[in-house]
Amino acid sequence: MNKLKSLFMILLAISGLQAQPTVKQVYLDKNQPMEVRVKDALSRMTLEEKVALCHAQSKFSSHGVPRLGIPELWMSDGPHGVRMEIMWDSWDHAGWTNDSCTAFPALTCLAATWNPEMSHLYGKAIGEEARYRRKDVLLGPGVNIYRTPLNGRNFEYMGEDPYLASRMVVPYIKGVQENGVAACVKHYVLNNQEKWRGHIDVELSDRALYEIYLPAFEAAVTEAGVWTIMGSYNKVRGQHACENNLTLMKILKGEWNFDGCVITDWGGAHNTKDAALNGQDIEMGTGTNGFSANKKNAYDNYFLADPYLQMLRSGEIPVSNVDEKASRVLRLIFRTAMNQDKPFGALCNQEHSEVGRAVSEQGIVLLKNSTKLLPIDGSRYKTIAVIGENATRSLTEGGGSSELKPKYEISPLQGLIEKFGADKIKYAMGYGSGAPAYDQVKSSPYNADSLRKAAIELASKSDLVIYVGGLNKNTHQDCEGNDRLSYDLPFGQNELISELQKVNKNIVLVMLSGNAYAMPWLSQATTLVQAWYGGSEAGNAIANILSGNVNPSGKLPFTFGEKLSDYGAHSFGTIAYPGDETKEEYREDILVGYRWFDTKKINPQFPFGYGLSYTTFEYGKISADKKEYSADDTIQLSFTLKNTGSRDGAEVVQVYASEPNASVVRPTKELKAFKKVFLKAGESTIVGLSVKVKDLAYFDENSHTWHIDPSTFVLSNASSSTDIVSSVKIKVK
Ligand code: GLC
Repeated sequence: MNKLKSLFMILLAISGLQAQPTVKQVYLDKNQPMEVRVKDALSRMTLEEKVALCHAQSKFSSHGVPRLGIPELWMSDGPHGVRMEIMWDSWDHAGWTNDSCTAFPALTCLAATWNPEMSHLYGKAIGEEARYRRKDVLLGPGVNIYRTPLNGRNFEYMGEDPYLASRMVVPYIKGVQENGVAACVKHYVLNNQEKWRGHIDVELSDRALYEIYLPAFEAAVTEAGVWTIMGSYNKVRGQHACENNLTLMKILKGEWNFDGCVITDWGGAHNTKDAALNGQDIEMGTGTNGFSANKKNAYDNYFLADPYLQMLRSGEIPVSNVDEKASRVLRLIFRTAMNQDKPFGALCNQEHSEVGRAVSEQGIVLLKNSTKLLPIDGSRYKTIAVIGENATRSLTEGGGSSELKPKYEISPLQGLIEKFGADKIKYAMGYGSGAPAYDQVKSSPYNADSLRKAAIELASKSDLVIYVGGLNKNTHQDCEGNDRLSYDLPFGQNELISELQKVNKNIVLVMLSGNAYAMPWLSQATTLVQAWYGGSEAGNAIANILSGNVNPSGKLPFTFGEKLSDYGAHSFGTIAYPGDETKEEYREDILVGYRWFDTKKINPQFPFGYGLSYTTFEYGKISADKKEYSADDTIQLSFTLKNTGSRDGAEVVQVYASEPNASVVRPTKELKAFKKVFLKAGESTIVGLSVKVKDLAYFDENSHTWHIDPSTFVLSNASSSTDIVSSVKIKVK
């Protein structure tokens, strides 16, 4: 009998009619609809396996379902490039040798391009690097609002205006996710400072929440379809943002219908029941050494691990709760780790370098050029002094979780030597800032006096000085974990700049920073460039701008106030910033940034949306296609723009809206449209911009809806928030 059976099996095998698996594993079939796959996978999972999906298994990974061949999720920082590999169980670098990356410019620089196309190129490139490094979730971009220039992490975000941040964040996310890598928009929400970030409890009006702090997150969810969002450390109206009923359940998963995963910031979870019932999906970073001897930090002890499992088993929390979370995690896994159609990415290639350099070139802002020192014609100078530590210091290391290990990083000095020749360029450090320390201020090992003397000496005998200073990634500078302690430039730079101005009239000031700063030397300065943190190609971009190879076209994504007390967040005492150690009240309310400066009639040092060019532009009068509009109309605006100079260039035209006789407090004006227009020398064009009437609404707290009064609105075209060219009145019925 056996012989006959085995003969039959052999015949069967040869015939190729293998025994089909009894039960079709639908969840593995990529042609099945997503929700069918999710349901099928969920139906096969045990309670323990579902709970495992909801928390970390290591520093930067969370569980899959090994038994079912469902892979784990690998996450990596950050917004400016794919961070080096981190140890399984600690914050230490893992010491790999194949994990260098392209360092892209900081997101303030991307925002300063005012060019959504650059955002898409940026997102696609960084997404390719994350894909190549086999990451499923890239922990960026950040879109917290710039309400105080002391916030240590503003360099990672997209400025003070919700409309600009919304327009610039959407293409970035789409570019990342085209690679089968999830973007993770962060830090949701109201993490607008680093001081007491772990617990500060933010109080603010619904109008400020909906008109200023939510829009960029809403655009990320409802327009870009972001697959994950990171809960922030702070509290919102009494509840931690990682377990907050209002922000996670009512707004994110309710009003915005978010179908992705909420991931905690590392250590952002605090309570099992709150995290379970208020919409937390994947708990990360609660214990920093999961395998430590004391079980306290073990991954199984996370809030959404064993304690959660117990509550599910006892019925204190219904199993439907974990089914809902596990479904979201499975959807994320099918979109990323199990996405068989995703491309294979690329790492550190020429294309990525070019994207980085182009973003930097388009983001650099020319703030002053009164004696036309720029662009620099190298042949006119025998000796060019480059002075300042930021001309040589790496600005991709440090800064906290956005730190990078770039394949290369062209410093401003290298870029300038490359451009103008080593024979002309002489360097003096001028000031020293000490090592990039995460949580302490290490003083510089260099002697400040000798550095300053040498720099002044060099400047006094050079034809031209290029000063490269600003902030850096040290703690209490542009760095996570702490805020700045002063609005001034650090390390004695103000004194140094004043000394240099006494010995040389030809000084080009180039500032690298992610925040505004006081400029006591400005009246004596003829030339000032805000060059942000440019990443791997920083030096080439700066050299291309200073030499005129590229015409600057960046505009400020946030206001540069003259002094700290000019800012709304610093006009109501410590309760408005940094808070009283437990609570903080955003008393400037909706008047953030230029909204504050305009309404309080405070002249900024340099206004939001400001930036010069090596050419000039002439705007025509703005006109609208109709005189009256109904609430669901779109207003078509147009005006001519002419490049009246002798060089090709690009101008960011802006449209601001005002409602002079509003029934509620409204900012004097608000950005409602912009476009970066490229024009050849002498060329002119008709710029067309549209504004949806519904985007002129304000958030009505009583009805909890967006509301627009039948009223007159004024729409103005402008080259910055203070340089209004012309206006047109329209009526909303
Ligand atoms: C950090 C940061 C967050 C980062 C995460 C992982 O604390 O707040 O932006 O992505 O932890 O490093």
